[in-house]
Amino acid sequence: MKKIFITYPIAPAGIERLKQHGYKIEMNEEHRLLSHNDFIAQFQNADAVITVISDKVDRTILDLAATAHTPTKIFANFGVGFNNIDVAYAKQLGIFVTNTPEVLTDATADTAFLLLLAVARRFNECQKVMQPHTFTGWNTVQNLGVNLSGKTLGIVGFGRIGEAMAKRAKAFDMNVIFSTRTEKTSEFATQVDFETLLRESDAISIHTALTDETKHLFTKREFDKMKPQSILINTARGAVINEADLVSAIKAGKFFGVGLDVYEFEPLVSDDLYKLDNVILLPHIGAATIETRNKMSMLCAENIIAALDGKTPPNLVW
Ligand code: 8YV
Repeated sequence: MKKIFITYPIAPAGIERLKQHGYKIEMNEEHRLLSHNDFIAQFQNADAVITVISDKVDRTILDLAATAHTPTKIFANFGVGFNNIDVAYAKQLGIFVTNTPEVLTDATADTAFLLLLAVARRFNECQKVMQPHTFTGWNTVQNLGVNLSGKTLGIVGFGRIGEAMAKRAKAFDMNVIFSTRTEKTSEFATQVDFETLLRESDAISIHTALTDETKHLFTKREFDKMKPQSILINTARGAVINEADLVSAIKAGKFFGVGLDVYEFEPLVSDDLYKLDNVILLPHIGAATIETRNKMSMLCAENIIAALDGKTPPNLVW
């Protein structure tokens, strides 16, 4: 009987699908990420592994996967991002790596837009005003946000999620520009170079994958080039921003506000970020809707079934 190892509890749809297919499931039932050593101890001789984006699938894991008595044929990553996996080495060894694109596009773009609106209307600070018995009446000069309509949103990284964000912003009458490595056209946004985007945007939303090129794409240098009192949103990967530089820039009064769903050293978050009034933090919920999680789980299952049936899985990333 073929064995599937799942490193972290995931939505049931895909697990049921795998069981129906006759596979034996072994899952880490604890809502605690496996340490690297626990991962090594537990995954070996599984035909397929479902990983989450915090699992580091490095050369050590891949070498063990390739040389085990029952080699692991596929690592199905539960997420669209796969910067946690050494994909080039997996390819060299002929081990499939798959992700879960498309099904999480809307949920993630919704999260980015939620942060943009919340920061623009100072949602955090307004919530603090509305603690029990603290509301003293509405006011003409306090809690003032900024309009989104008529403002320029700059989108960095223009894959499916970036474009879905552009579509939302367009519906709010924003002017939308984007920068990305390849030439692209979109009915919702105009392509510009990165430097222009930094200079012209009233708000910037990050939607690029984390790679060697995009790590610390945003540092003090980029913050200095952004408009004063602009907004910065990140729902992609924390390490695209140098978090220490970000904290300094916020403290120096650079931003109207900042909205973050991801952090450079997740799950660690710079202490200062919790204390700053104009910063809204979410616990990495980009794709976290009931429907989306089930679809992600199902995609992992479909990729595994294809791979173990000797086919190329539909969401192969190499
Ligand atoms: C994942 C994510 O849902 O898809 C991604 O790349 O970052 C999230 O949407 C989550 O991190 C679980 O692996």
